[in-house]
Amino acid sequence: MFLGLLISLLLTCGAPGALGSSTADNLLVLTVATEETDGFRRFQRSAQCFNYKVKVLGQEEEWHGDGQKVRLLKTALEQYVDNEDLIILFTESYDAVFASGSAELLKKFKQAKSKVVFSAETLAYPERRLEPKYPTVIEGKRFLGSGGFIGYASHLHKLVADWDGADDTSDQLYYSKIFLDPVKREQINITLDHRCRIFQNLHGSEGDVVLKFENGRVRARNMAYDTLPVLINGNGPSRLFMNYMGNYIPRVWTFETGCVVCDEGLRSLQEFKTDDSFPLVVVGVFIEQPTPFVSEFFKRLSNLQYPKQRIQLYIANHEPHHQKHVERFLQAHRSEYSDVRYVGPEEAVNFGEARNAGMDVCRQNPQCEYYFSIDVQVVLKNASVLRTLIEQNKSIIAPMVSRIQDLWSNFWGALSSDGFYARSEDYIDIVQRQRIGIWNVPYISNVYLVKGSVLRKALSQYDLFHSGNLDPDMAFCDNVRRKGVFMVVTNREPFGHILSLENYKTSHLHNDLWQIFQNIEDWKEKFIHPNYTLARKGKLIESPCPDVYWFPLFTETACDDIVEEMENFGQWSGGGNKDERIQGGYENVPTIDIHMNQINYEKEWQKLLLDFAAPITEKMFPGYYTQAQFDLAFVVRYKPDEQPSLVPHHDASTFTINIALNSVGQDYEGGGCRFIRYNCSITAPRKGWALMHPGRLTHYHEGLPTTKGTRYIAVSFVDP
Ligand SMILES: *[C@@H]1O[C@H](CO)[C@@H](O)[C@H](O)[C@H]1NC(C)=O
Ligand SMILES: *[C@@H]1O[C@H](CO)[C@@H](O)[C@H](O)[C@H]1NC(C)=O
Ligand SMILES: *[C@@H]1O[C@H](CO)[C@@H](O)[C@H](O)[C@H]1NC(C)=O
Ligand SMILES: *[C@@H]1O[C@H](CO)[C@@H](O)[C@H](O)[C@H]1NC(C)=O
Ligand SMILES: *[C@@H]1O[C@H](CO)[C@@H](O)[C@H](O)[C@H]1NC(C)=O
Repeated sequence: MFLGLLISLLLTCGAPGALGSSTADNLLVLTVATEETDGFRRFQRSAQCFNYKVKVLGQEEEWHGDGQKVRLLKTALEQYVDNEDLIILFTESYDAVFASGSAELLKKFKQAKSKVVFSAETLAYPERRLEPKYPTVIEGKRFLGSGGFIGYASHLHKLVADWDGADDTSDQLYYSKIFLDPVKREQINITLDHRCRIFQNLHGSEGDVVLKFENGRVRARNMAYDTLPVLINGNGPSRLFMNYMGNYIPRVWTFETGCVVCDEGLRSLQEFKTDDSFPLVVVGVFIEQPTPFVSEFFKRLSNLQYPKQRIQLYIANHEPHHQKHVERFLQAHRSEYSDVRYVGPEEAVNFGEARNAGMDVCRQNPQCEYYFSIDVQVVLKNASVLRTLIEQNKSIIAPMVSRIQDLWSNFWGALSSDGFYARSEDYIDIVQRQRIGIWNVPYISNVYLVKGSVLRKALSQYDLFHSGNLDPDMAFCDNVRRKGVFMVVTNREPFGHILSLENYKTSHLHNDLWQIFQNIEDWKEKFIHPNYTLARKGKLIESPCPDVYWFPLFTETACDDIVEEMENFGQWSGGGNKDERIQGGYENVPTIDIHMNQINYEKEWQKLLLDFAAPITEKMFPGYYTQAQFDLAFVVRYKPDEQPSLVPHHDASTFTINIALNSVGQDYEGGGCRFIRYNCSITAPRKGWALMHPGRLTHYHEGLPTTKGTRYIAVSFVDP
């Protein structure tokens, strides 16, 4: 027992027979598959796990309808009819998987004491009126299902002998009528698997069936009958539930092994030795609403680790506000790409139409191997993401991205009965990466890769982004599900996140500055100095004068954007003592400045001080705690011909934060700050660095004259 468990843990299901069954010579599995769908490949893998011998019928044919299955079975049986011992399992394969091996299957078949055993259903289909004709049962499902049956070849031969129906007629009706004929039922010796010992048709039983994890493998357990079925079939609308179970059964993901399938069937990009031999990818970029950090998006796009000469870009932008971002990117990089199509806001195609057109660029080009669709609010952190997705080799694959510290993500684990969001049992574990793997899900959005070959075959219909009243993303997924193409989400890496678009206003020049509440991580990356973390650890705080501390706080971008924002606003104070903006209306030591509240930036500025300055204050002035309250925070402009300097003064603060917003020697000459008591000057302020000093009593100070150019500083009087 112990040894057996060890062995099953060591093997993967990729190795034939990994789940233990030896090949049964007297058992053959027959199935019909006119297409090699994703579901069919899943079925085949599950069969290989248990060493089932599978023969596929109809591969050369076009699909006409369910009757075709009976015709193909009838023909196939001709060659087996004389084989007395041969047992044949006939099953669906697009939406079915094996959960156990042939030994158990044959044992259960023998226990049924009949020559033919059909799967059972909760409803009679396609003709409900036949229900009263069915024998009653004490326990279990009463009606015949044609999705799976098992029997001796000779008896199955009798079962289909009279078939002369058309391909587009119902196989289930045909079998049902035979079963409902008492004479034939006895002659062929047919029974139904009422209690799902062998066959679990999921339709109508979703509530009864749960996953059962055991010793490195996974089964489905029917709780209504306390059985462990061998073959699981997602018939009718239960197909999505099948997809969920198929993420585990029989050995796809287990607690002991984690993801077993993740490294199966990968497509390596190693074989492409030169840049121009890489697969051609069409990248569709979509801007549908005002979105923060769009320049950063385009920076990441151009840094994508993939030869640009093998990328064709399709950019659809609905937002006039982002016109400048797109144009800046195209100006710098257009010529590096194989091709660029840009649909701007003036062309005003609707969202669904834009997505159809983008996808069609790939579909129409036989050279296009992949279509990579990405919305501009997606932040992909790893530049090799496109390669990673290609290598995973799936029809459609989305890298999982979610809002930071939120369960909101770009996939749904389940679908409600009316087609909207529903939470699967494993959703939270997948979003939080407690379970890592690749997951077949009913809905993905925002970023995904689609194989060009799939677009030209199963998804060849142009208008995938429309379906009834559904929004374009839901329409797309709805259509893809209908076509039986799997949508897979991978959380094998922390790929990145999705920006929050809430409260994004475009009324300023540099609107990202206002995103400190909504998208703090992205805000930090753009605006907080990369060495700030060192300062936070106490490793990069200088003390140029007694009790004056100096540390890196802002990036160059932050400094430039704040200055531009102020200049764009333009309402600099006159520098006189009368000042309507402050309490009392009188300023002792006036500067030429603009207050943060004039540009509606005081809440954001306070958070900045609280999150980034206060921790340094508390480190350098132990025992002092601050909520970073301020009445006055402002940007000062010093110019030789306007106001070059400031007379000695105290600040109306417990401590002052003074951030240099541009560079001495480059943007201006002179400038700096002198603390009179200590005769100590800081004459070479560093752009983006913050000076912190006590406001009163000891730190009487003056602003040294700016002799050339323009100098900007951001000053905050904290805890007045
Ligand atoms: C099938 O045959 C067995 C005996 O071989 C018999 O006990 C059973 O009742 C038969 N079942 C049907 C449905 O005729
Ligand atoms: C990629 O996937 C397709 C379809 O599943 C498969 O036919 C092909 O063999 C896979 N490629 C590799 C290199 O395994
Ligand atoms: C990016 O992805 C590649 C491939 O999965 C991985 O090897 C690498 O470590 C990742 N890089 C980062 C910074 O996460
Ligand atoms: C960060 O600090 C390191 C040394 O501590 C320095 O080499 C590097 O240039 C600094 N980075 C920036 C952006 O100033
Ligand atoms: C202040 O320092 C400067 C140069 O650092 C020096 O020239 C000057 O004499 C000092 N003044 C006083 C009053 O010590």
